[in-house]
Amino acid sequence: MLTDELKTLLASNFAYSIKAQMFHWNVEGPDFVQLHELFRAIYEFAYAGHDKIGEFIRTQGDYAPGSLERFQELSQILGQTKIPRARLMLEELVNDTETLKSMVMSVFRAAQQEGREDIANYMAERQDGLGKYYWQLKSTLKDSRA
Ligand SMILES: [Fe+2]
Repeated sequence: MLTDELKTLLASNFAYSIKAQMFHWNVEGPDFVQLHELFRAIYEFAYAGHDKIGEFIRTQGDYAPGSLERFQELSQILGQTKIPRARLMLEELVNDTETLKSMVMSVFRAAQQEGREDIANYMAERQDGLGKYYWQLKSTLKDSRA
């Protein structure tokens, strides 16, 4: 159901954004500047989606969750309490970006089915952004061809 999927997406998007920001703060190594900036771009993109998703839940006639406790119950993306090495940060975010991308696609389809083209359009936009970061994360992980 669309409203439930939006709530799960809101919580998962939050878990994703705070993780990317934590990686932005704590990444170390020779690629520091590049990764610090990539993680910044990702958490800013993710945060920018919160408000709209929460408001879509309201326009569906339901109330939007907004506590760490509820987000933890609902999120399909796990938090990270350790400080992984840079490469592990990248690998984890690749997987989480893939998870979030498939959730966004699922909301897109549910929105189309329920005649919410506005939500579907926004999900298409999010898909576009996530696809870009997925590509950037994957490419950063790839060993050089030299
Ligand atoms: Fe910063």
